[in-house]
Amino acid sequence: MGDIQERLSGFPRLRRSLLPTPVQRLDFLADEYGAEVYCKRDDLTGFGFGGNKTRKLDFLIADALNAGCDALIAIGANQSNFCRMAAAYGVASRLEVHLVLGGQEPEHPTGNLRLDHLLGVTCHHIDSADWDCWAEEAERLERDLTAQDKKVYRMPVGGSTARGALGYVDAFAEILADQGRLGIEFEAILHASSSAGTQAGLVVGQALAGWPGRVVGISVAKPRAVQQQDVLDLARATAAEIGLRVEPSGVAVEDGYLGPGYAARTPGCEEAVALFARRAGIFLDYVYSGKAAAALIDYLRQGRFERGAPVLFIHTGGNIELFE
Ligand SMILES: Cc1ncc(COP(=O)(O)O)c(C=O)c1O
Repeated sequence: MGDIQERLSGFPRLRRSLLPTPVQRLDFLADEYGAEVYCKRDDLTGFGFGGNKTRKLDFLIADALNAGCDALIAIGANQSNFCRMAAAYGVASRLEVHLVLGGQEPEHPTGNLRLDHLLGVTCHHIDSADWDCWAEEAERLERDLTAQDKKVYRMPVGGSTARGALGYVDAFAEILADQGRLGIEFEAILHASSSAGTQAGLVVGQALAGWPGRVVGISVAKPRAVQQQDVLDLARATAAEIGLRVEPSGVAVEDGYLGPGYAARTPGCEEAVALFARRAGIFLDYVYSGKAAAALIDYLRQGRFERGAPVLFIHTGGNIELFE
């Protein structure tokens, strides 16, 4: 743990996230399956309504300010959690914020988009679901802003750069501390995985600490092989960022709960969202944390964890979607 913190100490970092996040035992899963499952409440990271992205943005926005940037570009879908949080970070840091948002501009903005409007940032809508199209639009916008003498910090979907993923290397040190405080050792960590930064950071932390458990990314956007490669590539880049040659020992990705695709609801996800709300008062979402929870519940039903060995489920946030 000390080693991880020492490695990260040289990097500029804002401390807007409220850390450490709480960890709570999910009693209803113990009652139902005799399983020890704990939930790490990364939906409660605080700033800008919280979620996994604040951990990344603590490093990303500090990097932008350190580089003397005065404008920020973030990319995502209309209902992007990352864009909402990036916008909140940007305005609080006096940066000019531009969001490149995939999807038509709706007449009545809801959910995250409504918050983007409240933050007063500039939204550029493109009517496409293609991530490459969004990236091209962001590059074009960066050229325009640069021509106006702005120094731009442009972030990819999900803030998943090597710098952003450091937020989850740090989170891994926090999880080791959680284990120590609770006096337990988790067998596995489960979480929703999409643009790969969360999982890449965790597996680098795991490799640094020599942690013997499994980090299982529940893919919510891509088939397993593609997601595994994305996580591996970003984990290598993240390790290099902190001057390490770490070879993550196998990246575990589960794609059996993706359903027809990104943001498409599945019965398992709907069941998980309802169960967490009704049995634990915890609000998930239908795009990310609900699909990860569907996997968790199905693994418990199928006995895919060693009976009695504690498991950590990371609630990565996203529940603003419930107000869409
Ligand atoms: C709520 C939520 N959970 C999980 C994820 C996945 O994290 P990552 O993109 O780092 O893989 C995201 C990404 O957008 C998210 O918004």
